[in-house]
Amino acid sequence: MTNYVLNTWYPLAWSRDIGRALSSRRITGRDIVLYRTEQGWVAALDDVCPHRLLPLSMGKLKGDAIECGYHGLTFDCAGKCVRIPGQERIPPSAEVRSYPTHENMGLVWIWMGEPALADVSKVFDLPQYHDPKWSAVEGDALAIEANYLSLADNLCDPSHVSFVHLSTLGNAASEGVPVQFEQQAGKLLTWRWIIDAPAIPLFQTFGDFKGHVDRWHYYHYHAPSIAVVDFGSAATGIGAPEGRRDDCIQIYACHFITPVDEHRCIDHWLHVKNFQADEATNAAMSAEFRVAFNEDKAILEAIGRNERRLEGWKRVHLAIDGAPVRMRRMVDKLIEAERDAALPAREPMNPLRRQA
Ligand code: FES
Ligand SMILES: [Fe+2]
Repeated sequence: MTNYVLNTWYPLAWSRDIGRALSSRRITGRDIVLYRTEQGWVAALDDVCPHRLLPLSMGKLKGDAIECGYHGLTFDCAGKCVRIPGQERIPPSAEVRSYPTHENMGLVWIWMGEPALADVSKVFDLPQYHDPKWSAVEGDALAIEANYLSLADNLCDPSHVSFVHLSTLGNAASEGVPVQFEQQAGKLLTWRWIIDAPAIPLFQTFGDFKGHVDRWHYYHYHAPSIAVVDFGSAATGIGAPEGRRDDCIQIYACHFITPVDEHRCIDHWLHVKNFQADEATNAAMSAEFRVAFNEDKAILEAIGRNERRLEGWKRVHLAIDGAPVRMRRMVDKLIEAERDAALPAREPMNPLRRQA
C-alpha cells in the first residue's frame, strides 16, 4: 500500500545536476539512479541491483548502460539486463524497473506510477517561465526534514507570511486580513489582498514605491506537490485589485516539491518576475528568498519533530486552516482513486518491482 499519489509527474532533480555521472535520488520512498544518456535524455531506474541489492549508483556507466559495482551485471537504460559476466543465460528476473522522465522549467520530472499513463503534455508548466518579457532565476534544492504535505500546508497558507517572514516577504500590515480560497479540479487557490499598506521589505529593495501599495498573494496549489505563489504590488489607487496591473512588480515563486519519504521532502524553488535584472540583482533576490524559505524550513522541521513526539496531540482548528484541510482531502482522494482503479494484485516476478 502506498501513501503517495503515483500517477503524476513529480519534480526530481535540477536538470543542471544530471549529467554523464550516476546520481541517486529518493522519491516516494524509492531510490532512483539517474543519468543523462549519450543522446541527452535522462534515464531513471530503481537504484538497486537485483542480484545482491547493491545500489546501481555505485556502479559505472558504460555507454548508456550501468555496470553493477559488485559482479558486473549490466543493465540498459530500460532496465533490461544485457550482460552477466561468466554466464550466458540471463534469467528473466534479472531486470530493474525504469521510469518515464521529462525535462521542463530546468527540472527533471519523473512518473512513478503506471508507465502507460505517463503523458508528457501533463508535466507542469508556467508560460511566463518561457516568456522573454519575464525572467526566471533558478534557486536551490532545499532539503526539509518534514513530510511534503507539511510544506504543502505552508504553501496553502498566506497568513503565516505576516509572522514568519517579517524581514523579507511580509509585514505586520497583513496580520488581520482574512484569507479566501477556492477549490478547482486538482487545484486549490488561496488568496488575499492587502490594500493601502507599506510595501514589504523585498519590494522596498527591488521595487520603486514612493508611498503605500496594494499587495496581492495568490497561492496556486496543484495536487499533489506543486505550489506557485503569484505575489506582487502596485501603487495604491491605480486599480490593481480591479485588474489594472500594468505598472506593478509581480513575481511567481515556484515550489516544486519532491516527496522523498514520509519524513523528508525537497523544495526545488525558483522565481519568475515581470522585469529583467542584472546577475547581481537576481542573486540578491534569490538570497532574500533563501532567507525566507529557510525560515519555513525551521518551522516545518520543528513541527515535524513535535508531530513525531506527540502523536495524537489534539490540534485547534481555525478559519485559516480551511485551505490546508481541503488540500489534504484532495490528495487523499487521489490516492484512494488510484487504489480503486488498480488492477487486481498479482505477485510481481521480482519483488523489487513492487511499488513502495
Ligand atoms: S550485486 Fe550487482 S552484480 Fe552482484
Ligand atoms: Fe513561507
